[in-house]
Amino acid sequence: MPVITCIDDLKRLHKRRTPKMFYDYCESGSWTEQTFRENCSDFQDIRLRQRVAVDMEGRSLKTEMIGQEVAMPVALAPVGLTGMQRADGEIKAARAAEAAGVPFTLSTMSVCSIEDVAEHTTKPFWFQLYTMKDQDFLRRLIQRAKDARCSALVITLDLQILGQRHKDLKNGLSTPPKLSPAVIADLATKWGWGIEMLRTKRRQFGNIVGHVADIEDTSSLGEWTAQQFDQKLDWAKVATIKEMWGGPVILKGILDPEDARMALKVGADAIVVSNHGGRQQDGAISSIRALEPIMQAVGGDIEVHLDSGIRSGQDVLKAIALGAKGTYIGRAYVHGLGAQGEQGVATALELIRTELDIAMAFTGKRNVTEVDRSCVLVPEGFSGLWA
Ligand SMILES: Cc1cc2nc3c(=O)[nH]c(=O)nc-3n(C[C@H](O)[C@H](O)[C@H](O)COP(=O)(O)O)c2cc1C
Repeated sequence: MPVITCIDDLKRLHKRRTPKMFYDYCESGSWTEQTFRENCSDFQDIRLRQRVAVDMEGRSLKTEMIGQEVAMPVALAPVGLTGMQRADGEIKAARAAEAAGVPFTLSTMSVCSIEDVAEHTTKPFWFQLYTMKDQDFLRRLIQRAKDARCSALVITLDLQILGQRHKDLKNGLSTPPKLSPAVIADLATKWGWGIEMLRTKRRQFGNIVGHVADIEDTSSLGEWTAQQFDQKLDWAKVATIKEMWGGPVILKGILDPEDARMALKVGADAIVVSNHGGRQQDGAISSIRALEPIMQAVGGDIEVHLDSGIRSGQDVLKAIALGAKGTYIGRAYVHGLGAQGEQGVATALELIRTELDIAMAFTGKRNVTEVDRSCVLVPEGFSGLWA
């Protein structure tokens, strides 16, 4: 067994064990990938403060996200097609999250359905909603999430249209994969993936296939998105969906203080400062750079979470220090899943937990709820270079 010491180790195994089409789908950003890269490199620009001779015994990472207790301020982000990174991927990730005591968020574009994930887990998970034109389908989808006892609705606001990822077009991304000679040659080297995939019946968009009429080919994410996602989504519609749901609502994809104020106005329970992991607006600022101005605009009035670019517990610590109450990881757990299935997701979470715990101790804090701006050193102008 390889010795896994960091998320990068899982990433290398993920690449080796997963068909190129799906690895690339995970490990890419839109257009030039500038925002995708800067999400990570901007975290590196922030330094952690080192304090000494402080009693560090009895540390705790426990906190709350939207009033729900979490073992650490890290949730699994909604990731489409997780069940193509590894057979039954959403179920495996949800189970690992449950065991680690952190929230799992199921994507609308998952392979395993809401009902399937509910059946294979014991605690409520969160459901991420993409808003569709088909109001009847939208209503039924929300009802299905309620019936499955999902404990929060995460409404994604930054994907009415799909940002272009060159690799997905070049690879002919589809679910299940179409068997071209190049795909067959690649699959021949990923036989472990293939055997597991042959053993499962979950190989399509589980929340969609069988639940919508008039859709003939749901295998192409791009086509489905272009056809069905609601380009007319606006704040009034967000308010309507919030009403339909009737429970805790998290608005994901906020990068601008003005939008954060709108989210507050619409009565969201939390916002996620996010640029979708650099997969949508290429050239947008990194989430960690966007965080402080948003905290200044709404921080005292609404719970603020952050994702995009987190690859370690040190990154989580930096986001918490700058004001986020919680964070989400996307690729960091998908690398674990692609590398080693459910155990790999557990490993990814454990790595991040240990890194967060140790890094927090070195800043002189014993409780994650006490982590504040004093734990980090931020270069001058970090959040204020652009106007
Ligand atoms: C492969 C992949 C698929 C994604 N699918 C979705 C999705 O279906 N819904 C959604 O709201 N966000 C989706 N996201 C964005 C994530 O929820 C999250 O914002 C992003 O991964 C955070 O960046 P990180 O990967 O650097 O942690 C996806 C991200 C990746 C990498």
